[in-house]
Amino acid sequence: MIHATVPIKLKSASSRYDIRVGTGLLATCGDWATSSVPEARRAIIVSNKKVFGLYGDAVQRSLAKAGLSVSTHLIGDGERFKSLKTLEQTLAAFNANGISRTDVVVALGGGVVGDLAGFAAAVHLRGVKFLQMPTTLLAMIDSSVGGKTGVNSQFGKNLIGAFHQPAGVLIDADVLATLPRRELTAGFCEAVKQGAIGGRKLLDQTHRFLQGLDVKNGINELLADELCGLVARQVEFKAKIVAGDERESANNETARSRKILNFGHTFAHALEKATDYRYLRHGEAVGLGILFAAELSKKLEFLSADDVTLLNAVVRCAGRLPALDGIDREKVAAAFSKDKKVIGDSLQWILLRGIGKPVILPGSNIPPRAVKEILGKFIR
Ligand SMILES: NC(=O)c1ccc[n+]([C@@H]2O[C@H](COP(=O)([O-])OP(=O)(O)OC[C@H]3O[C@@H](n4cnc5c(N)ncnc54)[C@H](O)[C@@H]3O)[C@@H](O)[C@H]2O)c1
Ligand SMILES: [Zn+2]
Repeated sequence: MIHATVPIKLKSASSRYDIRVGTGLLATCGDWATSSVPEARRAIIVSNKKVFGLYGDAVQRSLAKAGLSVSTHLIGDGERFKSLKTLEQTLAAFNANGISRTDVVVALGGGVVGDLAGFAAAVHLRGVKFLQMPTTLLAMIDSSVGGKTGVNSQFGKNLIGAFHQPAGVLIDADVLATLPRRELTAGFCEAVKQGAIGGRKLLDQTHRFLQGLDVKNGINELLADELCGLVARQVEFKAKIVAGDERESANNETARSRKILNFGHTFAHALEKATDYRYLRHGEAVGLGILFAAELSKKLEFLSADDVTLLNAVVRCAGRLPALDGIDREKVAAAFSKDKKVIGDSLQWILLRGIGKPVILPGSNIPPRAVKEILGKFIR
């Protein structure tokens, strides 16, 4: 059942497509694929063994039933496979399976599969169409929206890539039933992030859903309908920001810049780096980063104590976050100073002047003492 269709309208005329949200959609994805890319004769599914083992058959069958000649390419499971090596292997598979300019790549998986397959589609024959079938909550509300694709490399995470919008995104909330609890929590933390910068309405909707959810038991049928509603609102929010700043222009520092989506990410990236990307799921780090940015906003007298309490309550509902004891505080502090974005030479903080009121501030505007004090509170 289709629950919502979110139209994505971007300035580039070729970038108009829909994000479809619902339940029981995988089994009929073939019709969606052929209506999204009518010229395609062949489709290649990019996935990993785990996800393909769960959902591959249904997807493959439906694509074939709709008249497509279907091949598959499975990549390894995990962030380390979002690499140039996997990209090369994926391009080799596109070639071996005769994927032409008019054919289509179907990404079936989480953000790793989506980013990698999207980038491979962007560069194969200078660009072929691709469809996203995100299977993690994070991929549904975040990575599959906005057209950023890419891989990690020796130069850093996500620094090689392309903006390549999909021809369509199909979100079947049923697949979340098999998603591990930590992955669900990680996705919900990104949802809280979007609520915090999006405004009270989105934050309250997210909070209400989380209050009714027993994260331990995951998503069940009863919750699927409500979840579809939440996913649709989250997708709409991200799409709205992306539409206003398609390529994240370097000099856009307004509250509508795509950069505001990095709320909670300054501390998150520092934590991930200080723990070699092994200890925390990215979304979990974002959950902690939201709390850090909220405290810092309060310290600088931007945000009320009530709003900080509210954000703490919502993040807590998203699930258990790993403890920070034992993490080397100095390493985190060092990671702050090294995490300078490629553009500009200063670390940026996204802080809040209230729920739904993000501000982008250069690190040089924030007293180092304030950051140090809060760091001391988070990591004893
Ligand atoms: N392009 C963007 O704008 C953007 C935005 C945010 C994050 N990202 C990227 O997304 C990636 C993280 O994505 P992720 O959090 O989805 O991680 P992931 O793709 O590694 O998936 C997490 C785990 O869940 C498994 N899985 C996926 N779907 C499942 C299902 N339905 N049932 C059971 N298991 C399932 C995967 O096999 C994997 O082990 C990072 O590489 C990050 O850089 C990109
Ligand atoms: Zn993130």
